[in-house]
Amino acid sequence: MAAQSKERLSRIREENAQLEAVLSGMAEGVMVTSAEGRILMVNPAFKRMMDVDAWCLNKRPIEVVRNHDLQSVVDAAIDSAPSLHEDTVFDLTLEWNQRIFQVHLTPVRIGEQLHGVVAVFHDMTELRRLEQVRKDFVANVSHELRTPLTSIKGFVETLLDGAMEDTAALRRFMTSIQHHADRLQALVEDLLQLSSIESGRYEVEFTSCRLDRVSERVAEIFAKQVDRKQLALSLRFETDRPARGDPELMERALSNLVDNAVKYTENGGSITIGTEERVDEIVLSVSDTGPGIPSEALPRIFERFFRVDRARSRALGGTGLGLAIVRHTMELLNGRAWVESRLGEGATFYLSLPAWTENEPSEDEQSEVTGRPARTPGESVGETTTGGTT
Ligand SMILES: Nc1ncnc2c1ncn2[C@@H]1O[C@H](COP(=O)(O)OP(=O)(O)OP(=O)(O)O)[C@@H](O)[C@H]1O
Ligand SMILES: [Mg+2]
Repeated sequence: MAAQSKERLSRIREENAQLEAVLSGMAEGVMVTSAEGRILMVNPAFKRMMDVDAWCLNKRPIEVVRNHDLQSVVDAAIDSAPSLHEDTVFDLTLEWNQRIFQVHLTPVRIGEQLHGVVAVFHDMTELRRLEQVRKDFVANVSHELRTPLTSIKGFVETLLDGAMEDTAALRRFMTSIQHHADRLQALVEDLLQLSSIESGRYEVEFTSCRLDRVSERVAEIFAKQVDRKQLALSLRFETDRPARGDPELMERALSNLVDNAVKYTENGGSITIGTEERVDEIVLSVSDTGPGIPSEALPRIFERFFRVDRARSRALGGTGLGLAIVRHTMELLNGRAWVESRLGEGATFYLSLPAWTENEPSEDEQSEVTGRPARTPGESVGETTTGGTT
């Protein structure tokens, strides 16, 4: 008899240990209440989610989760327990920690008698945020595509209605159609570029990457636009140590920054592209004497479709995707992108890459091995590597 009890006890202990391990390992929060609606047990995930500790035991859910909806659902589940045979599933939004949970509530019954309820909390915050980002993205893309399309259709209709007979009007309308078609093309190219970077299908060839050379190439590409706006573009290289990256992708990222600097800086202003070495990283910077960026816009500046002044940026042919492409490119290259700016005091955008380590072959040595010549400044003029934003 004693041996039997001992065996049963040890089996119960074993089962308890297993249950505890399962509950501890769960990513979902679990809360078990008594038939009176007092908390009997919570798992570690629940404690983390609600930022509580052992003090929550024996309390009512509302005292711990600080939400009336949850308390009402638990009360309702207990009150209607005899007739309740299915789980209750509902969304719970907690204002105080800005999280959204999907909660599954199940009555615990032994025979006909209610022993309490079990609530399982799935954190849906990130999923809902991503859903919102996707919805916003689709809405933005549709809007950006519709605007030039509507204009093109309008011009074509006016032409077909008779304006075509007037040669001057024909030329004017055709020029406008071309302008809007260019906008559509730029948008589609930016979208394709962004999606190819984001899809993870883009295979980066990490090589030694001289950011001073990348800068010289980009400066050449923008030489004409810089001249047209009578801007002073200077290069200030404090290091020629190579970084670990992809020269082609860096050229595109830098082109986006220089495109912005040229676009947003008033005639006669100045732009400086520089390189410097910091601890284990090489930093590329683009400073301008343009209008600067208001502090409230800084945290959002790298978001897709974000523009400080929508009308002004659109008038300049911008789609608001350039900096999003820059950010994603830098993530792909294990680097970083950031900005420092104050309204009215110009802006400085930075791109940084890990430094190339000594024992890896340099850009020149690699091109000897692969047979691909290292490009010299000026050679890339006319190449279509300006990120589709110019
Ligand atoms: N150097 C800068 N000075 C002032 N504002 C800037 C600068 N660079 C970017 N911005 C602001 O950030 C916004 C986002 O820039 P981004 O390059 O992503 O888009 P865009 O230039 O409007 O369009 P796109 O680059 O897709 O043609 C711009 O619309 C502009 O308001
Ligand atoms: Mg831009």
